[in-house]
Parts: sequence; structure tokens; C-alpha cells
Amino acid sequence: MKFLIIGSGGREHAIAWKLSMSPLVTDIFVSPGNGGTEAEAKCTNIAALDHENLVLFAKENSIDITVVGPELPLVEGLTDMFRRNGLAVIGPSKDGAQLEGSKAFSKNFMLNNGVKTGYYIEFDQYEEAVDYLSECDWPVVVKADGLAAGKGVIICKDFKEAEDALRKIMVDKIFGSAGDSVIIEEFLEGKEVSILSLVDGRTILPMLSAKDHKQIGNGNNGPNTGGMGVVAPNPWFTSEIESDFTKNILEPTLKGIQSEEWDFRGILFFGVIIAEGGAYLLEYNVRMGDPETQAILPLLNNDLAEVFQKIHYRELSDYSLEYRNESSCTVVAASGGYPGDYKKGMEITGTNELSQPLFISGAEKKEGKLLTKSGRALSVTAIADTIGEASDLAYREISKINFEGIYYRTDIGADL
Ligand code: GLY
Repeated sequence: MKFLIIGSGGREHAIAWKLSMSPLVTDIFVSPGNGGTEAEAKCTNIAALDHENLVLFAKENSIDITVVGPELPLVEGLTDMFRRNGLAVIGPSKDGAQLEGSKAFSKNFMLNNGVKTGYYIEFDQYEEAVDYLSECDWPVVVKADGLAAGKGVIICKDFKEAEDALRKIMVDKIFGSAGDSVIIEEFLEGKEVSILSLVDGRTILPMLSAKDHKQIGNGNNGPNTGGMGVVAPNPWFTSEIESDFTKNILEPTLKGIQSEEWDFRGILFFGVIIAEGGAYLLEYNVRMGDPETQAILPLLNNDLAEVFQKIHYRELSDYSLEYRNESSCTVVAASGGYPGDYKKGMEITGTNELSQPLFISGAEKKEGKLLTKSGRALSVTAIADTIGEASDLAYREISKINFEGIYYRTDIGADL
């Protein structure tokens, strides 16, 4: 089989790494890929192509299945274009991708389908949103409606912070048209769980639970990032919480997807919080998480090519996922200064010294050297019997890697 993967991050590297192990797979093309994907067996990076040229490439190269990594092409309707051209693709249709593309759409979907979630109100006028603040209990969560690269969710502890967030989003338009409307949502205090799941329109099959670490600093301090580390499975996701999640979040979500009649053959990521009262849904993403994918795929025993076939042919109902009976810990190394300004082009050394999987998030090969290209540069995933052991091993491994300004949290897995 020939695969095309769209994207350039650690998630796409992990997908390429896992697919390359499949005896079913002969070739993997990654558009545009990165310095890690190009080094994997069976993998070839190709230039970043626009939607029309991606379809053309898939046709001309007899691609069997295309996997869309990031949310933006999904929200723009890339999968609809592929399916109109008779091409197999993993990702929801444009209308289904609104579950991530619009926070207001997504919260309305949850409300209309009885999915357990926090209370919220949507505003498209700044003044009305500010007026509403006088009725709020604190803290509140202000969310820009559209895609904002993970930065559009702001927790505000008082009126001043919330008014400031609303002004930046709705008046100053720091996220552009993503801030044309906002939702103001009750803040749920608790423990977060990431549940990535496979969806074929008839069945939602959850993958192993994971725990992301979104803040830049140890102890979950400092600004949010794309994710600085993950452990899997998430020990807070007990069987009791799982039953609550299945009954009050997963099942109503499936009913909602079916009643909307979307072609949702792809990935649905449930961002869950365990608060007083059990599991609540914070958000949906319509793609695999990054860095959750880097922690989950190394534990998965199934052939990933087969997994994608099952999604495409709507055969998930009698399929099951098997995992190594171990835990994983992924630690992300970023460029000093991230998520603010940071230097690029730093040479990464030590990558050949590792015994555990290395995933490149933002680095490119130039003249035989691996150079940093974006804030999150790479991650190491260690696997061991317990989270504690996996965490210790991940830190021993990542200490072998170096580049100017390298920064990573030193407490991933420590609180579990
Ligand atoms: N790690 C969270 C995300 O992928 O959005």
C-alpha cells in the first residue's frame, strides 16, 4: 500500500514511523514532512502542495490512503475534495471538522446532543460580552471561536483579565477573524485527559488515554504551548470515569455525528476534564493530538495501515486495539523562549545516541545537519513498566540531545 501523510510535525513523524513498520506498506510520502520523516524507512518528503495538487499527487502516484495530520486542511474541506475524486482519506468532511473549527458550533453541538460539558454563552458583540462579565463567577474561560493555533483559550481569574482577553480577541483581533465571536464558559477545575479515537461514522473506538502537559513550565506554570510532554495511559482515567465518559460524552457524540449525516471517517480527539461530578467534555479536536500521538503509537500493537483501512471501509465495529502492557512518557524539547520568540537554525546533536524513539516536530536536514526550525523541535518517547520508570528513561535519553537554548520541562510524569 502507498500512503500520503499531510503535515510537518511530531504527530506526522510518529504516524510515518509507525506506518513504516507495516508489512502492508511499500511507500510513504509526506507533504511537506520534516527532518525526521525523511529519515524513516519507506518515506519520501515532498514539497508542501496546495489542495488541488495534493489530489493530483494522490491520483498520479496511486496513493491508497491519505492521512491528514493537522486541523486546518480539514476545516478547509480537503477531505471532501479527495472523496469527490474517489480517493481514500482519513479525516472528517468540512462540516464535521467544524467541531474543531468553531468553538461556538462545537459547544452548540454538545448542548443539542446532550454531551456533558460546562455552561457557556456565545457573543459576537464586544460590549455585550463585557456586560455579561458582571454576572460571572470567577474564574471564567474566554475562547476565540475560530482556530488560533491553541492560543485562543484564555483562563481569566477576574473581571480585568476577562475584559482584557475580550478586547484582544474581539477588538484588537489578535487571532484575526477567529475572534469575530467568542464563548465565555464556566471554568471547570480538575484533571485533564486526552482521548483520541477512531471514527468510521458507525462506531467510535477510543485509543489509549493520555495526559498532556500544556504549560511551558514545571508544575503547570506559565503560558500554554502546543504541549510539552505526555504520559500514557492516563492513570486518572479509571474504569468508573471511562463508563461516565462513554455514556455521557462518547455515545451522545456518535448519535450527533450520525444525525448530522457527516462523512466522519477520521479521528476525533476528546479533551476531557475530570471535575466534581465526573467527566466533562472541554473540546473536540478532529485530528490526532500532538504530542499525544507520539506517546500512544509506540504502545500500539496493531498495524497502523490496517487501522486506517478499518476507518476507511467502516469496519471498526468488530475491531479492537491492542497495546503493550507498559507505559510511555514523551518529553518535548523546545527552543529557548518558546512559546514567545526563539532562535531558529540551531544544530541538533546527539540524536544517534538514543535507544528510544525520537520524533522530530520542527527541524530540517541541511547539508547533513539537523537544524531547529520551530518552537517545539523534537520529542523523545520512552517506554517502561511504569510511568515513573518511563519518565526516568525519557529524561536520561533526552539529556543526550543538545542544541543551543534547548529547553524542556523536567517534571513530565512526575505528578502521576
Ligand atoms: N496536545 C493537544 C493538541 O494536540 O491539541
